[in-house]
Amino acid sequence: MTAAAPSPQTVASRLLAWYDKHRRTLPWRAPPGVAQDPYVVWLSEIMLQQTTVATVGPYFAEFLRRWPTVANLAAAPQEEVLAAWAGLGYYARARNLHACARKVAEELGGRFPDNEAGLLELPGVGAYTAAAVAAIAFDRPATVVDGNVERVVARWFQVEEPFPDAKPTVRRLAATLTPQTRPGDFAQAMMDLGATVCAPAKANCGLCPIAQDCRARAGGAPEGYPRKKDKAAKPTRVGVALLLHTGQGELVLERRPPKGLLGGMVGLPGTVWREGAPFSAGEATVAAPLDRARWRELAGTVRHVFTHFALELTVWRGAVAGRPSGGPGLFWAPVADLSQLGLPTVMAKAAKHGLEGAGLLL
Ligand code: ADE
Repeated sequence: MTAAAPSPQTVASRLLAWYDKHRRTLPWRAPPGVAQDPYVVWLSEIMLQQTTVATVGPYFAEFLRRWPTVANLAAAPQEEVLAAWAGLGYYARARNLHACARKVAEELGGRFPDNEAGLLELPGVGAYTAAAVAAIAFDRPATVVDGNVERVVARWFQVEEPFPDAKPTVRRLAATLTPQTRPGDFAQAMMDLGATVCAPAKANCGLCPIAQDCRARAGGAPEGYPRKKDKAAKPTRVGVALLLHTGQGELVLERRPPKGLLGGMVGLPGTVWREGAPFSAGEATVAAPLDRARWRELAGTVRHVFTHFALELTVWRGAVAGRPSGGPGLFWAPVADLSQLGLPTVMAKAAKHGLEGAGLLL
């Protein structure tokens, strides 16, 4: 017989008691009992997306030093805000941050909306940030779900559905735990628990205030949650890259058509890339001046992994006399200039492979 699950209130009160003892001291966190400045909460939550607490620290301090209020930030020139953001990445976020400050300062009398729906109207504020600001700054019972919270919830409820499909389920389950009292502290407690105890590779159940009711723990393998979908294996494509050179240290390159993968980039000419058997001698039809060469297939292949497939290129090398001209997009270039031509990595690898042992300058 399994024991009845504890009520959400019990879970919340256990977690809040733990938070009162173990909460992290963070630069943007007001001491217990002190109201949070919505500007500070909003700024920190925008900065913390896709970035670590350690990275954000100095940026947060510098922003608050230079722009202590939302009106100060709104009045700053955009270039200064972008320059102060430099190094945090995702620059659209910095532009939205500034636009949001302007909207709050100029249209909302300097006050952030105190509820999720109002916050969602602001530039750069999505579901996560709206919930976080509503809960932490205004103590609204909003459900805040970041990656840490997803892990805690997926384990506690032992969600078998794999991510990312499970996201809506986990959101719904997380909402069942959100308390009416101290929802802001509860949200931060869940985030702290995920960050400091219920970690990805080690669940540390001995330290967890809600471990006794955790279903993944009872199942014996909490680290197996959240379940993840097996990533589909990438297909392999094959192709031939052609290295045609003169005796005078020049080779034929191609400016690829503007659209598609590596569009507009410079590379070795070659066959299409296909799934299936490698190209055999004579199968690759080539245009002038490539048709002048007697090709030799080099041993080995060049492998490169793209987002959706892996590529295995065989390199064929050929020599011609003179500098015959030919097909569209093809041009001759000194081998010595290769490093300045901005070849994409796969093409630089293929050229290097093709030139090795050819007695040509690299
Ligand atoms: N990660 C992002 N925001 C956080 C917060 N307010 N508390 C703890 N961890 C966080």
